Amino acid sequence: MSASAPAYPHTPESGGEAARLYHAEHGCKVPYIDLSAPRPEAKSYPAAEAVPLPYPPRARTGFRADRPDGLGDLLALTYGVTRVEWGGGGVRAGRPLPSGGAAYPGELYLSAEFGLCHYLPSAHALERLNEADLRRQIVDALEAQPAERPRLILLLTSRHEANLPAFGGFGHRMQTLDTGVLAGQALALIDAAGAEVRVHTRFDEARLNRILGLDPRAESVRAIVTAGLGHDAPLPVPAFSTDPGANQAGIPRRIMARHTAADGFDAVSIPLPRVLEILETAAEEIPSDIRTGHGAEFASLDLYCVANRVDGLEPACYKRSAATGALGRVRETVDPRTLFPSGSDGELAHFQAACALLIVGDYEHGYREHGDRWYRMLNLQAGILAQRIGLSATGAGLGSMLRCDYQVKVADRLIHASPGRTVLVAVLVGLEHGVGRPGHRLLLGGYGS
Ligand SMILES: Cc1cc2nc3c(=O)[nH]c(=O)nc-3n(C[C@H](O)[C@H](O)[C@H](O)COP(=O)(O)O)c2cc1C
Repeated sequence: MSASAPAYPHTPESGGEAARLYHAEHGCKVPYIDLSAPRPEAKSYPAAEAVPLPYPPRARTGFRADRPDGLGDLLALTYGVTRVEWGGGGVRAGRPLPSGGAAYPGELYLSAEFGLCHYLPSAHALERLNEADLRRQIVDALEAQPAERPRLILLLTSRHEANLPAFGGFGHRMQTLDTGVLAGQALALIDAAGAEVRVHTRFDEARLNRILGLDPRAESVRAIVTAGLGHDAPLPVPAFSTDPGANQAGIPRRIMARHTAADGFDAVSIPLPRVLEILETAAEEIPSDIRTGHGAEFASLDLYCVANRVDGLEPACYKRSAATGALGRVRETVDPRTLFPSGSDGELAHFQAACALLIVGDYEHGYREHGDRWYRMLNLQAGILAQRIGLSATGAGLGSMLRCDYQVKVADRLIHASPGRTVLVAVLVGLEHGVGRPGHRLLLGGYGS
């Protein structure tokens, strides 16, 4: 598939038919991934006014949206270049969040009082595309408009040439998961800064693309995050506290420490309470425009745990109860060890990990309500939950690894769910092998980092 292949979903709207076809052909199975495929240069606007942000950024929460330098820390922790990693005979820039194949097809734009800008992670700078305050026009393109004008609007796009050459058609689904991961990161940080925050998935995409000057055959808007007034002073972080505020202040620290457990896991048990805490954090309500309207109940995602070595749990598949948070054993249908293809990297990683947490959703019911775009809305939510799991596992001193290469049919039999519900992404969790790979950090350790 060429990098400029038509973006999913196809227009005109087909009530889910195009999404079903896409899923059957491309979205339901990870293809051979060509990681040597050419990578495009970073997106930049050389003709735009460059606004450097304070460097080095600090790992802390808090932002001011009325001037560019009030956003530097937030942008760096959301999507900057936060570490340098040597390994495998090479060096690469590490980012504060995962991306399928480390392709980072997402681009981050923002609209605030001082204009419309593109964030350039490598230079930690803003490129001002328009000096005008376009927040009103952007809000007008949203279906669920916030009551008050947001102080800050983040526009999350995906660029096809960044991951389609490596992933082929599956890259479109990967983009939606990646967008969810990025939205999840922004939600966590803005929420920790005490600001009202909401992710928008229903909007006039063509109109927003025009505002950004994007050619949708190359790059298109995938999600919008609106933020209210945040605090600018860092939150105090007591050494021991049950105060949720203290937990939020730990978000920058978790973001800085999070990375994929690339050296694998030690095959040892982890305590059940840690798993329950991670799942509870993941299951928190997503502040979004998704759960409004009819069919809202089908918007909910379910969480499952395929336990290998979790103290107090027999190795088996368990479903988390949304009501009580408890794990209930799923009737045995298939051997959980067959979740990943025999002989694959995934099988080995799964063998070492203490458990695989599965994020499960329903495509069919959502198509009735939201049409084709439900496909993206659902995968975006899965990405948000996956990022929450990664950050929460880091907070619990555990390693994590997102995976899409499980056997979908096995996974769907394993969860024994009602028809239509399917596994959207898997996150392996366990004690990371060795010392891990924190890399050389490029952020100053700020308060709460
Ligand atoms: C949606 C998604 C799916 C991923 N799937 C896989 C996978 O199937 N196998 C794998 O080894 N890594 C997978 N990753 C992890 C990326 O390879 C990893 O995030 C990337 O190399 C960047 O490294 P870091 O997470 O340490 O910053 C996935 C990441 C995301 C966001």
